[in-house]
Amino acid sequence: MPLIAFLHTHVTSWVLLLVLFAVAYIGYKNNNKSGKIAHMVFRLMLLVAFGTGLYLYLQLNGGGAFYHVKITVGLLTLIFGEMTLVRVKKQKPAQVLLGGFILLALVTIFIGYALPYGQSFFSNFI
Ligand code: HEM
Repeated sequence: MPLIAFLHTHVTSWVLLLVLFAVAYIGYKNNNKSGKIAHMVFRLMLLVAFGTGLYLYLQLNGGGAFYHVKITVGLLTLIFGEMTLVRVKKQKPAQVLLGGFILLALVTIFIGYALPYGQSFFSNFI
C-alpha cells in the first residue's frame, strides 16, 4: 500500500476521533447511552490513529527532530482524550484534562501540518 494511503487513513481517523470525543463527552455529561457507544468507537479510532501515525513515523524517520515531537504530542493527545472521557464517565471534574486535550490536539495538528510530508501549510514556522 502506498505511504500516502496511510496519511489519508491517519487524517480520517483523527478527524473521526475529534467528532467521537465530542459525542462521547456530551453523551456522558447527559447520562446518555450514546456516550458509551461513541467512547467505544473513539478507542478504535485511537488505535487506528496511533497505528498509522507510528507507521508514518517509522517510514519518514530522518525527516528531522520535529518528527519526534509529533509522535510525542500525538501520543499525549490520545492519552489525554482517553483520560478525559474516563473521568467524565465517572462524573468527576475533568476541565483540566479537557483543556489539556484541546491544547495538545491543536499543537499536534499544527506540527502535523508543518512537517514536510503531505500538506505543509505551516512549514515556515519550524
Ligand atoms: C501516537 C499518535 C500519532 C503519531 C505517532 C502521529 C504521527 C504522524 C506522522 C509521522 C505524520 C506525518 C508527518 C508529515 O506530514 O510529514 C503525521 C501527520 C499528521 N498528523 Fe499525526 N500522529 C499521531 C496522532 C495524531 C493526532 C491525534 C492528530 C490530531 C489531533 C494528528 C494530526 C496529524 C496531522 C494534521 C498530520 C499532517 C497531515 C498532512 O500532512 O496531510 N496526529 N502524524
